[in-house]
Amino acid sequence: MPKHPLIAGNWKMHGLRDAIPEALAMDTAARQSRASVAIFPPSTLLFALSEALNARPGPSPVRLGGQDCHKDAQGAFTGDLSAEMLKDAGAEMVILGHSERRHGHKEACESVAAKTLAALRAGLEPIICIGETLDQRQEGLTHAVLSKQLRDSLPLALEGQTFHVAYEPVWAIGTGHVPTDDQVIDAMLLIQKHLAQRFHNQVVPHTLYGGSVKPDNARHLLSLDGVDGLLVGGASLKAEDFNRIIAAAD
Ligand code: PGA
Repeated sequence: MPKHPLIAGNWKMHGLRDAIPEALAMDTAARQSRASVAIFPPSTLLFALSEALNARPGPSPVRLGGQDCHKDAQGAFTGDLSAEMLKDAGAEMVILGHSERRHGHKEACESVAAKTLAALRAGLEPIICIGETLDQRQEGLTHAVLSKQLRDSLPLALEGQTFHVAYEPVWAIGTGHVPTDDQVIDAMLLIQKHLAQRFHNQVVPHTLYGGSVKPDNARHLLSLDGVDGLLVGGASLKAEDFNRIIAAAD
């Protein structure tokens, strides 16, 4: 059965409370779309956004998520947030292993795997990100890197659980450089093969592409083999852009 595309907006460290109307405008677009839509605001906005969406008539199709979580449920970890806290604030999903965490915060695959277990423990649906750097691609290491990240970041406990994998080449994030069609398809097929070999899930994971997705390239990216969703950074901040990407999924 074809999946509804998953359109996920990662707001990163952007957004104050005055961004709530943007999310409400995205909710309006999501209500008219067959796509599944998720927004990952900064954690400070999760509760307010969840309240604002719930205050609208009828259930909102927009799901909210965190951008990272700690592996433990609670403890002396200054500045960290647990998966349970994100859930308590209104999250249903969480992004894990984003390259800005892997590279900026030196997160190893094993840490991503531990956080994935935490997400499952709290009942959050994880989107686990993988992707090669430009150096790794130029050295011909793309397949080796993606395979290692998949093997070491995805714990076997994902068997039977709903989760998703995003392919985000590090060199495509925030740069305006989008890989060629063949490069995207090649990575997606590698991911799908890995998932089919290791997990026998009833809900087949979405495989998302992320990295410089814009309103003008979204429809084309979604048409590529193996792309059944998009993880959008910069173009998810304004409803004007993000709603065009949601519409591209129809
Ligand atoms: P970008 O970010 O769309 O701004 O390139 C994508 C991401 O980091 O998820």
